Amino acid sequence: MSDDLCVEVPAATTFRIRWAAAQWEAEQAMALRRAVFCHEQGIFAGDDRDETDARAQLLVAVKCEADDAPGMVVGTVRIHEDEPGVWFGSRLAVHAAYRSHGKIGATLIRLAVSSAHGLGCTKFLAHVQSQNVPLFRRLHWNVLAEETLLGRPHHLMQADLDYYPACLTPGIGMQAMGRSGT
Ligand SMILES: CC(C)(COP(=O)(O)OP(=O)(O)OC[C@H]1O[C@@H](n2cnc3c(N)ncnc32)[C@H](O)[C@@H]1OP(=O)(O)O)[C@@H](O)C(=O)NCCC(=O)NCCS
Repeated sequence: MSDDLCVEVPAATTFRIRWAAAQWEAEQAMALRRAVFCHEQGIFAGDDRDETDARAQLLVAVKCEADDAPGMVVGTVRIHEDEPGVWFGSRLAVHAAYRSHGKIGATLIRLAVSSAHGLGCTKFLAHVQSQNVPLFRRLHWNVLAEETLLGRPHHLMQADLDYYPACLTPGIGMQAMGRSGT
């Protein structure tokens, strides 16, 4: 076969979505939250951290580097148990350059709910910014109520746990694939 016919296909980027463990993951996740919720959306001034962070589990989406370098956090969410069996997800954010890119947000939601399910969650809720309701509906969430939080329209939504089998290995987590060549 002629070399002229060989076309190099760029490898797709992979993203690992997992419970955060390392300090650098938490630091990059907090920086991403500030970029999204303070600077981009202007919901908080300076810092979005609150008392929930002390009892929440942080999740991260890490862009995997080919040379096994530490990687870069491009997405995050947190989950916490509010009362026995009832869990909430919050502070879902994906870096602006990686949105609609490889189902990073959807995979963060999947691991958030599935890992809580693995810890005995019977009800998983989130106060969803209203512009994101279509995304959550596609992922089998139902609207419970409309509400105004932080001066913005939100929907209280509940995940259908039938679509979120328990994940017992959240430290390994799940993989998402980026578009080819990105
Ligand atoms: C909302 C957010 C986390 C989504 O992350 P994302 O990585 O872009 O989402 P995904 O790529 O996994 O989305 C999966 C699919 O839903 C679509 N989608 C994403 N956000 C959507 C929205 N708000 N409405 C409708 N569809 C949406 C994507 O285009 C994609 O479609 P495809 O399957 O046809 O490719 C991201 O846009 C973000 O960080 N926004 C700013 C912060 C924010 O709003 N946080 C959420 C607070 S509730």
